[in-house]
Amino acid sequence: MLMIDCPQMNFPQRRLLKIGNNVILWSGSTVGHRTIIEDNAFISLDVAISGYCTIGENCFLGVNSSIADNMKIARDCIIGAGAVVITDTEEGKVYVGNPAKPSKRSSFATFRVEEV
Ligand SMILES: CC(C)(COP(=O)(O)OP(=O)(O)OC[C@H]1O[C@@H](n2cnc3c(N)ncnc32)[C@H](O)[C@@H]1OP(=O)(O)O)[C@@H](O)C(=O)NCCC(=O)NCCS
Repeated sequence: MLMIDCPQMNFPQRRLLKIGNNVILWSGSTVGHRTIIEDNAFISLDVAISGYCTIGENCFLGVNSSIADNMKIARDCIIGAGAVVITDTEEGKVYVGNPAKPSKRSSFATFRVEEV
């Protein structure tokens, strides 16, 4: 787990961000302040994550997706390439498009993992 903090700063954004274990963060991606990325998340190329977001465990964020401020991406979600997320997501779903909407298939089906 990685906490990036700036103790010399004395304002609310001081705790800049928290990144869990086994997180993959590819090049070109940006992560806003006070965002939390939980364990095993995969953030692919050129993803824009705004401030005050939570990216849940095991989430996959596709290339060039954007996550607006304050969003909570629930665990096990897939965010499709180029999706623009402006509402919180539900656990285990696939979201595509702008604004991002859930697709019919669950993320478990997309990853070909049986739902339990
Ligand atoms: C979302 C994704 C995972 C596919 O999921 P899936 O469950 O297999 O989805 P399907 O291909 O069956 O498509 C389901 C629907 O979503 C739409 N869709 C799929 N991906 C989409 C995308 N990125 N943007 C918009 N719509 C998309 C399809 O057109 C289809 O629409 P329909 O139901 O109206 O026909 C995939 O398209 C994607 O975006 N992958 C990310 C790729 C990537 O970033 N890789 C990084 C490598 S480092």
